[in-house]
Amino acid sequence: MRTPVQLYVRRHMGASVRCWLHEPTRGPCGLPEIVAVAAESQRAARSCADPWHSMNMALIHCVGWQSSSVRTSMKYREVGNTATRVSEIGFGGGGNAGLMVRGSAEEQRQAIARALDLGINYFDQSPDYGTGLSETNLGRVLKDLGVRPYITTKVEVREQNLDDIAGHVVRSVDESLNRLGVDYVDFLQIHNGPVTTRPQLSGRTYTHLWIEDYLRPGGALEGLQRVQRAGKARFLGFITRGNDAPAARQLIDTGCFSLINASVNLLNPSAALKPYGMHVEQDYDRILTYAAAHGVGAAVYSPLAGWFLTNGAVSGSTPHALASGPRTPESEQVGLRRAKALGFLSSTLHPDVQRDDHNLAEAAIRFVLSLEGVSVVLGGFSDTHQVEEVAGCSGRGPLSEENLMRVEGIWRSNFGMT
Ligand SMILES: NC(=O)c1ccc[n+]([C@@H]2O[C@H](COP(=O)([O-])OP(=O)(O)OC[C@H]3O[C@@H](n4cnc5c(N)ncnc54)[C@H](OP(=O)(O)O)[C@@H]3O)[C@@H](O)[C@H]2O)c1
Repeated sequence: MRTPVQLYVRRHMGASVRCWLHEPTRGPCGLPEIVAVAAESQRAARSCADPWHSMNMALIHCVGWQSSSVRTSMKYREVGNTATRVSEIGFGGGGNAGLMVRGSAEEQRQAIARALDLGINYFDQSPDYGTGLSETNLGRVLKDLGVRPYITTKVEVREQNLDDIAGHVVRSVDESLNRLGVDYVDFLQIHNGPVTTRPQLSGRTYTHLWIEDYLRPGGALEGLQRVQRAGKARFLGFITRGNDAPAARQLIDTGCFSLINASVNLLNPSAALKPYGMHVEQDYDRILTYAAAHGVGAAVYSPLAGWFLTNGAVSGSTPHALASGPRTPESEQVGLRRAKALGFLSSTLHPDVQRDDHNLAEAAIRFVLSLEGVSVVLGGFSDTHQVEEVAGCSGRGPLSEENLMRVEGIWRSNFGMT
């Protein structure tokens, strides 16, 4: 059970305001870090002349605190140059893990409450997750719990939106805010990966968006900036989907973006590193390093390659009943074969060779957390146990040198294919 802790804080811009904070931890400076601000504090903050300043956690100076009943080992990281500190494990609301789309209201409430208990303060959303259902469910639970953590949502641009992309972005965000029950989101991202040649968008497809459609007048960036100027999003971002690094770098160079989404995992670490000889279908060309050098943070999706990097997957179990990942026979074959080559990382499956106490999922999460440029690792959860296990990876450190060397050998041999 969470117990709010009362903190007295002084706003950067003026008079004192009393905040109710959930799950504080000790930051590097010894002061409590602000993890999630309760609704009461948000109302107080909104009455301030400059809501951004009053809401900006980095500008709040803690001048005293009363007590803490919760201990969590969650670590927090700054997102690029935003001065926003987020938990290094984030809560993904995607439909791959089905909790936020197909779970019961009670299961959702339990998992989110536990996530907050464990110090998670970053929730990733999109209108595409259950066609709005995931946003609605998150909004309901947060209202019920009376907390307001950091929230990201996205905008998907489809063929039907190409004539008025900026207008679509504005309308889509208004609908998301309505479902989430908030006045603004902390991060707003375009869900289409930028590409340098015009993609064929048809029907519900939104995987990519031509860089011209991002940057032209009336394009996606203009829409994002309209939303930002209206105070409905604090920071802007976009997703990268691999084989798109030149376009992603071009967007970063505009200086308008604070956060990218990128997939990074033990099956494809190319957003951070690509050992000589390794072949990946989607090459992210070390985009995390480029982003970090330009003050842009990264929220990592699919750290478990959508499920493959788990004990259950490599040992032949079926996915969770709520899950609905894009597990085509082809992706099963390739993903599972590669994941099995890394099965030695699980001490439960391979107690004979694995000396470190981690299962495959824990090893995979700890690997991603150890990469430069990662702000937050987004877990996709089917139940509370998964939340606990992934959140528990925070602060446990990187993989051992011995394990990393063996992993690198597997990468260099293309998972045994060369
Ligand atoms: N995937 C994308 O294209 C994408 C794009 C942008 C953003 N995102 C965001 O990133 C989040 C995560 O993406 P993802 O779902 O691809 O992440 P993932 O972490 O790679 O895969 C999630 C799956 O891993 C399994 N799992 C999670 N924790 C586990 C544990 N402790 N032990 C064993 N198995 C565990 C679950 O499978 P079972 O359910 O079968 O147990 C779950 O469905 C999304 O929810 C979304 O918010 C995703």
